[in-house]
Amino acid sequence: MNLSTHPLQRLLPTSSRLVLGCMGLGGDWNHDPSSETDVARAHAAIEAALDIGITLFDHADIYTLGKAESVFGTLLRRTPSLRERVLLQTKCGIRFKGFQHDAGPKRYDLSAAYIEAQAEHSLARLGTDHLDLLLLHRPDALMETEEIAEAFTRLRRSGKVRHFGVSNMQAGQMAWLSRALDAPLAVNQLEMSLARLEPFEAGTCFNDPQAGVRPGALAWAGVMEYCQQEGVQLQAWGSLAKGRYTAEQARLPADEPVRTLIAELAHAHGLSREAVMLAWLMRHPARIQPVIGSSDPARIRACGDAMKLVMSREDWYALYQAARGAELP
Ligand SMILES: NC(=O)c1ccc[n+]([C@@H]2O[C@H](COP(=O)([O-])OP(=O)(O)OC[C@H]3O[C@@H](n4cnc5c(N)ncnc54)[C@H](OP(=O)(O)O)[C@@H]3O)[C@@H](O)[C@H]2O)c1
Repeated sequence: MNLSTHPLQRLLPTSSRLVLGCMGLGGDWNHDPSSETDVARAHAAIEAALDIGITLFDHADIYTLGKAESVFGTLLRRTPSLRERVLLQTKCGIRFKGFQHDAGPKRYDLSAAYIEAQAEHSLARLGTDHLDLLLLHRPDALMETEEIAEAFTRLRRSGKVRHFGVSNMQAGQMAWLSRALDAPLAVNQLEMSLARLEPFEAGTCFNDPQAGVRPGALAWAGVMEYCQQEGVQLQAWGSLAKGRYTAEQARLPADEPVRTLIAELAHAHGLSREAVMLAWLMRHPARIQPVIGSSDPARIRACGDAMKLVMSREDWYALYQAARGAELP
């Protein structure tokens, strides 16, 4: 198994297998301006990511209320050659009170006007003339696929966005949206990890009432298969499970079996525990791209080890079963 190949490379050949999630950059989720310390922290995180071969950086308009994109933009303005070394992905569609002077309730907005306005805001904050990928952050109950298609077409024709994708969408929603589009969806970004097993459970345990499948898992049915069939890149957010299985101190006694197995595998292979977490995702034949949300340069570097481990079927299932907390049916 060649760990570096993945579907997105067909569209963006320089795309890396790991993605740096930028949600932690720029400071806190408030209206205080980013400081030079925040810029320096972002710089250190980006340098660590580049050092381990990461080229794809994941943003959203809302991250730290726009400051994540802005600090990244500050660094791009200071070192313009950096833009040629990175691929920029951002997302839009979530609105809430206080974000960009919004006064309304929390809501999703995939209207053409909002998608196009947010693309412009992201371009301005990032200080770039194009986004490599723009994702719809969450499905909008009021979305109209023809309208989304029109927005995508205008953004692509103007050269402002190269490719489009979605996040947190079911297979049926992707198929429905795709019928209206004039180009295939490039990405679906879902929460997937040893702490979020639903996409795996939906395919393996669906027909056994005794299997202990998590409530709601069946809503994920078919999404992994759909993405593989259509060549859509699956990206995993929350891929480190926020350190639940890798932090020095256990947070929940029930996590011990997974924590122990991860530590044992890391020791056996001479790799970091983060690498084992990510290698579990990367072993799936969908060639999942883990999005790592760390801003800590040492932890980002530790994630780079993931490319060194092709997990055996036995180890993959041992971790899956330990994380389920119950034997497979
Ligand atoms: N599409 C969506 O709806 C969606 C939703 C959420 C996030 N995302 C994207 O996915 C990325 C990752 O998501 P995420 O941040 O939720 O998940 P994550 O990568 O699982 O977790 C990252 C967080 O966990 C902490 N962490 C990781 N390992 C740790 C350890 N061993 N000890 C202590 N802390 C540890 C990190 O702290 P340090 O910084 O100190 O390492 C960071 O705060 C985000 O940056 C964003 O780009 C997308």
